[in-house]
Amino acid sequence: GAAGSAATFTLAGCLGGGGGGSETITIGSDIPYRPFEWETTDGELTGFDVDIAQAVFGDELGYEHEFQKTSFDGIIPSLNNGNFRVIMSAMTITEERAEKIDFSDPYFTAYQTIIVLKNGDISSKEDLKGKTVGVQKGTTGAGAADALKEEFGGDLTIQRYDQVNGAFDALINNQVVAVVNDNTVNAEFVNEREDDVKFLEGEGAASEAGKDAPPYLTLTVEEYGIGFRKDDDDLREEVNGALATIKDNGTYDEIYSKYFSG
Ligand code: ARG
Repeated sequence: GAAGSAATFTLAGCLGGGGGGSETITIGSDIPYRPFEWETTDGELTGFDVDIAQAVFGDELGYEHEFQKTSFDGIIPSLNNGNFRVIMSAMTITEERAEKIDFSDPYFTAYQTIIVLKNGDISSKEDLKGKTVGVQKGTTGAGAADALKEEFGGDLTIQRYDQVNGAFDALINNQVVAVVNDNTVNAEFVNEREDDVKFLEGEGAASEAGKDAPPYLTLTVEEYGIGFRKDDDDLREEVNGALATIKDNGTYDEIYSKYFSG
């Protein structure tokens, strides 16, 4: 698990690894979204995205870089307004988003999943009809909940929280009966609260897509990408090159197994 992983740098000023870049690449991200980006109790930023950013922007491309906390809902207009240079926030590549920003090549596969209370009365997706589910505002999890509502002929209430932890808290406090969210982030919470929370099981989108299906119900198959302004092709191409390099040379796998060793 990712618990207690060594922090690589702090929020306020990260050291670039390479030599070349004098420019600082600012990275917009909604934090916490564990295991992709969160702060340890010492206030140090860590996570899969944080390590990939160090490998790509720092070690491969030689830029200085720093993360900038921002809300997920509104992260795209914020990028386009120039508040930071790129988005790295476990962000799923979608057609709708790709109308407003460009994405790097995919760097992570994810699925929408549903978690519920262990001692509750929800044991299948169908049991959610007429109930209230929690999601993070502006996410593909919110989109998956919208689709579920449609499937139920409108008979579903969706509570939207600014951050995913708001939805997790609401589940624990019985304000919602389920949370729809990315699988590995839900898994982190299930691990943390394994006496209280579980995944809904079942076959789903992952196995239909021929993916190595995780042992729980999957509503979608998604790919994460790094987000760029539409006029930032040179940087996007540099980043794609660096992503290819770290996938080839074992760095990506090393980072992956640090957070997803199973
Ligand atoms: N993958 C989902 C999406 O793109 C959720 C991302 C939320 N990320 C975050 N750092 N809070 O909509």
